[in-house]
Amino acid sequence: MLKTVVCVSGGGTNLQAIIDGIAQGAIRNVQIVRVISNNRKAYALERAGQAGIDAVCVSPKDYEEREQFNEAFLRKVEEADPDLIVLAGFLVVVPPQLIRRYENRIINIHPSLIPAFCGKGYYGLKVHEAALARGVKVTGATVHFVDEGTDTGPILMQKAVAVEDGDTPERLQRRVMEEAEWTILPKCLDLIAAGKVRVSGGQAYIEE
Ligand code: GRF
Repeated sequence: MLKTVVCVSGGGTNLQAIIDGIAQGAIRNVQIVRVISNNRKAYALERAGQAGIDAVCVSPKDYEEREQFNEAFLRKVEEADPDLIVLAGFLVVVPPQLIRRYENRIINIHPSLIPAFCGKGYYGLKVHEAALARGVKVTGATVHFVDEGTDTGPILMQKAVAVEDGDTPERLQRRVMEEAEWTILPKCLDLIAAGKVRVSGGQAYIEE
């Protein structure tokens, strides 16, 4: 069993896709051992509760110093002793000590085809606003390993999604989720749990 911690900040539809994937057998040998949110009001916490998954909140707002938050966050992760950490719409900068300790064991889902529309400031609807402003005809989603940069780690899987006439950022966001995010994130988890993913020389490889 691949013991997995899922970190969330908001609605948690990607978390739901993982919960459903496990329940339906599309994701094999994965157990979500804890959900961590930085936001007490995140609906994702509700979803975790409904699925009977241990869920905790650790917010930078509860600490005077960033370093205190970093340590508290690290403790919450380590208590759960995960094999893998999934950032599923997690809007907080991950403590560098966590990235070092879990090298090649943290993945993130980003709602664009990296390296387009990624990096500092590109999160949530802003990504889709930027894609529409640029007039791209194709966008999508990326699952990548997390290193100390922003959206710079090895790319594991991508899926393209067409931009349609009349798209608003909200419509595009929804389509990217439905057609890409909720498919590739569960797939990546299944592959990692099956031992089919290798990272070397800054690149991720899937070995079928
Ligand atoms: C998704 O678009 C994800 O790619 C991005 O944040 C959003 C989270 O949505 N990183 P949800 O909380 O999983 O519904």
